[in-house]
Amino acid sequence: MTSAAQALETGSQPAFDVSRIRRKFPALRQKVNGIRPVYFDNPGGTQVPSTVISAMRHYLVEANSNSHGAFRTSRLTDQTIQEARQAIADLLNASSANEIVFGPNMTTLTFHISRSIGRVLNEGDEIIVTRMDHDANISPWLLLARDYRLTVRWVDFDVETGRLNMEQMERLLNRKTRLVACVYASNALGTINDIRRVVEMAHGVGALAYIDAVQYAPHGPVDVQALDCDFLACSAYKFFGPHVGALYGKYEHLASLPAYKVRPAPEAVPSRWETGTQNHEGLAGVTAAVEYLAWIGEQCGQPFASQVEEYEGRRRILKQAMLAIQAYEETLSRHLLEGLNAIPGVQVAGIADPDEASERVPTIIFTVEGKSPREVTETLGDRGIYLWDGNYYALAVMEALGCEERGGMVRVGVTHYNTHREVNRFLSELEGIV
Ligand SMILES: Cc1ncc(COP(=O)(O)O)c(C=O)c1O
Repeated sequence: MTSAAQALETGSQPAFDVSRIRRKFPALRQKVNGIRPVYFDNPGGTQVPSTVISAMRHYLVEANSNSHGAFRTSRLTDQTIQEARQAIADLLNASSANEIVFGPNMTTLTFHISRSIGRVLNEGDEIIVTRMDHDANISPWLLLARDYRLTVRWVDFDVETGRLNMEQMERLLNRKTRLVACVYASNALGTINDIRRVVEMAHGVGALAYIDAVQYAPHGPVDVQALDCDFLACSAYKFFGPHVGALYGKYEHLASLPAYKVRPAPEAVPSRWETGTQNHEGLAGVTAAVEYLAWIGEQCGQPFASQVEEYEGRRRILKQAMLAIQAYEETLSRHLLEGLNAIPGVQVAGIADPDEASERVPTIIFTVEGKSPREVTETLGDRGIYLWDGNYYALAVMEALGCEERGGMVRVGVTHYNTHREVNRFLSELEGIV
């Protein structure tokens, strides 16, 4: 157990109060055919607290309008957008709310900005991508390379340990490298990468670092200033909010890169990156999702206060929240790994040692001998346990593991509203079908 998990157990506050947390989520209270579903499909998207639903409803009733008008609902809309920017800036510790760009999802935002980055690259320049990434942080760069005649270099991961080959990344970097695209935590293997080092290495040769934090953001604290990354993308629907994507970009890049935009749209940062009308009700929900996380920080974050003294106000509370979440989820990861390792015929890929649980997010992939991944998820789905199978767009991961042709792998992904009792239910149902 790491010191973080111990802090959670021995802190002056009651341990992570999951029952209280669960009461905030209407979906978690529902029964289907008399059974309460177990939502272990969280890496694909999380459930939302009622405050997110009411914030979206409130926007649609009280403020529904387009932006920049001279009347009440439009002013409220401008305020809604600004509050959401500030909320994400606080969550990621961006130096300014103007460094936050919103869009439909991470994939669209990445395609969008990649085209602009391409405009300042030259034929023969190099881009580094990793086989651990979700395809949303690979394909935009592959297509850019095709369009601008750039060279793509691939970094592998160790299929036994599930770790990214950092030495290979270091070797591939050279003075022609202009961008390194890297995932913070894998949405398949769950491995957390040393992003600080990735950024340092990229900057060492003058390259930009584009970080995909979609899978990491619901599970741990993010600090874009400490990472010093150039871009970092995440999606609110993975952290208890609605379907909205957010991109952090250093102000200097957002101001200087050529933006693909319509002529009447403002040149101001970050609006120049937000094409068309935004999902305003979604943005109201984004703020509420961040507020929900702040509530966790207030309720359960005290044992972690001494670790985050450099932050102030909501930023500090959010860091406390994410540390509390991380510590509790580590106990769930350990439980899952111990249980999966004990079932004959179940094979976990990547970090499978419970003692290394702090090096991963609680997203675990595995195969079941004699069963296709779809058979497993279908059977468990019928019993009210929701899991993913396939490649979850981590195509390169499945190809490297040799599972792509066989229907990928089963993925169990828990989050802080899940319980040890649910893990037990999942493990005993799984054992029953093996
Ligand atoms: C690591 C990772 N990156 C990117 C994405 C794509 O995110 P979006 O659906 O917001 O485009 C996902 C979605 O599952 C993901 O897990």
